[in-house]
Amino acid sequence: MKKRNLVVANWKMNPETLEKAKEIFNEIRSASKKLKNTDVVICPPFPFINSFAKLNRPKNVFIGAQNVASQFKGAFTGEVSAEMIKNVGGDFSIIGHSERVAMGEIGETVRQKLAIAFDCGLIPVLCVGEKERDKDGNYLTVIKNQIKEYISGLQKRNLVGLIIAYEPVWAIGKSYRDAMNATDVHEMTLIIKKIVSELVGKDIAAGIKILYGGSVEAEGALPIMELGNVDGFLVGHASLNPEEFSAILKATDMKR
Ligand code: PGA
Repeated sequence: MKKRNLVVANWKMNPETLEKAKEIFNEIRSASKKLKNTDVVICPPFPFINSFAKLNRPKNVFIGAQNVASQFKGAFTGEVSAEMIKNVGGDFSIIGHSERVAMGEIGETVRQKLAIAFDCGLIPVLCVGEKERDKDGNYLTVIKNQIKEYISGLQKRNLVGLIIAYEPVWAIGKSYRDAMNATDVHEMTLIIKKIVSELVGKDIAAGIKILYGGSVEAEGALPIMELGNVDGFLVGHASLNPEEFSAILKATDMKR
């Protein structure tokens, strides 16, 4: 079956009010209706998930969380469980984002979060990415170790169709000029597939979705989509600007 394109909007800790959030959501929803080959996941801050899930939306628009607890339930102050996210209408969760890793999240925690997401039927968007690029190619070992640590021990059947967002940390939060170029993105998608293939087999590797993230803006999205061999994007700041984000969606949808 043909894989659909996917664009995930990571709103981070924005915007300030539910009213503003709904405004942005509505505009994205309208733009999403025109898409033929692309699904859209909006990941607002936790407090907005429930309200968003109650709004009418086209079939290709989903709601997600930006993080999920590594435990099912219990005395974990400040955490939000996979079951809670599902219960209020979230279908996806970003897991292992570099900003969470910078706040102290370790590989074992990312692995537990993945396992719990699968158990609860929450679809994970697993983030990987190197902090820096060195001439010796150590970043390749970094990516390999991340993927290995995150997916080791997980049931193979859960990994079918796994979504991996490749986000080089050095390219996050800048402008499209600082995003990774399409050729390098292409190289990374091949490498990620090879790593997954070595770990869990060719069949699973062939079915994973790879998104690129890191300063994705409308300008530059098309070449990455066409030449980068990705299935879509994980978009941060540009996903809060409906006009910019709609243009990214349009560019993504051009790939069939
Ligand atoms: P950015 O963020 O698009 O603002 O670079 C991407 C991300 O952090 O997921």
